[in-house]
Amino acid sequence: MNLDHEKKLAGEAAAELVEDGMTVGLGTGSTAAYAVRRLGERVRAGLHVRGLPTSTHTEALAREVGIPLVDFAEVTRLDLTLDGADEIDPDLNLIKGGGGALFREKIVAAASRRLIIFADHTKLVPQLGAFPLPVEVNPFGWQVAAERIAALGAHVTLRQSGEGPFVSDNHGYILDCFFGKIDDPVALERHLAAVTGVMESGLFVRMAERALLGDGQAVRTIQPAP
Ligand code: 5RP
Repeated sequence: MNLDHEKKLAGEAAAELVEDGMTVGLGTGSTAAYAVRRLGERVRAGLHVRGLPTSTHTEALAREVGIPLVDFAEVTRLDLTLDGADEIDPDLNLIKGGGGALFREKIVAAASRRLIIFADHTKLVPQLGAFPLPVEVNPFGWQVAAERIAALGAHVTLRQSGEGPFVSDNHGYILDCFFGKIDDPVALERHLAAVTGVMESGLFVRMAERALLGDGQAVRTIQPAP
């Protein structure tokens, strides 16, 4: 089982969904990078698109592969966003933010008519929660937010990078919050949003239209039950 190959298959399949003239949200992570590279190839072959990256890392990659970029000063409605995920449940609720880009990823997804998620097959789980949920918080008073989230039932860890806390593109800190199995993602997202200091959580509830999963040599499509 070659997970990297599955990421590539899924990412490249996602890039094929982009049509001429679209404005496209560009996700972050090792899987999203495959979609960005493939989209770059299509642009170099004549496809006209504009991309809106979800991180400085993806922005640099998109520039490298030749995708013209826009920002929210120019456009507030996107046709499609292509992004990876850390966990995907059968209803297509997601945990995102393993790469620390969840805030921009959620803003971009929320501005998109369609969110397409793609991943290797291991990301599909019966229930969310084995992967600690990333929650972005304002650095000022992050300890207060961490205490409130712990009171919701999580084991909370401040994400580190080298000597100090990890700082997102958005100048936030990330709390990795292990809740165990998440029975009610809708309620948990609401509870987290109500914690003062929380900028966004990595729970993406009912946002994705479909997920493309690399599975061996094939790509499987998952769509939520109507
Ligand atoms: C970044 C994300 C990524 O989509 C998620 O972490 C998956 O990354 P990878 O494709 O490298 O496994 O949410 O914030």
